[in-house]
Amino acid sequence: MATLELGVLVSGSGSNLQAVLDAVAAGALDARVRVVVSNRDDAFALERARRAGVPTRVVRHAEFADRAAFDASLVEVLRGAGASLVVLAGFMRVLTPTLLDAFPGAVVNIHPALLPSFPGVHGQGQALRYGVKIAGCTVHFVDAGTDTGPVIAQAAVPVLDDDDEAALTARILAEEHALLVDVLRWIAAGQVELVPGTASSRPRVVTRGVRASRGLGG
Ligand code: GRF
Repeated sequence: MATLELGVLVSGSGSNLQAVLDAVAAGALDARVRVVVSNRDDAFALERARRAGVPTRVVRHAEFADRAAFDASLVEVLRGAGASLVVLAGFMRVLTPTLLDAFPGAVVNIHPALLPSFPGVHGQGQALRYGVKIAGCTVHFVDAGTDTGPVIAQAAVPVLDDDDEAALTARILAEEHALLVDVLRWIAAGQVELVPGTASSRPRVVTRGVRASRGLGG
């Protein structure tokens, strides 16, 4: 057991960040949010952090020559704040090995689809337009791809015949908030192990004593 020292990267509303902040404040998550960093000045997530007394920084991706330089600046801010686990909570930039190598096996992301289906933006809308009957969300370790890293946990929700994108997004978002906090709790408790890949197999995650798949009943 070890208190997680979190650095949270955001780009938007920050409801996933809020779920983490609320869990920490309630004593339900053994973690400290050391800094919240956004690539956008107008991210409401920054206001949520300020209200919780968490330091914030804005690192504008447009101000850097390339992604690696942007990531190097993020690393400097994260390390300077004492973060050792990086959480992408609605962060809309693809990270490079510059950041991933600085936090090996310690960058997690929440994605609003059951990966590997529907990676990238608007996963909820992709699922709806495809016509799937089960959608959901995924928390995964981040690799250099787009939403391709090893899956830690997933939560499923039904897709209803009269769903529009907003209704499905809201149903998934509620599960995201619970799943992200649970995964962080499991990591803090040492219940999540990232098993390296081999020449013929992907890296995979072993979770001990917890339910890494939910929403399927039973
Ligand atoms: C969430 O659905 C997350 O899965 C996706 O972007 C949305 C961010 O929501 N990456 P919020 O900023 O956490 O409210």
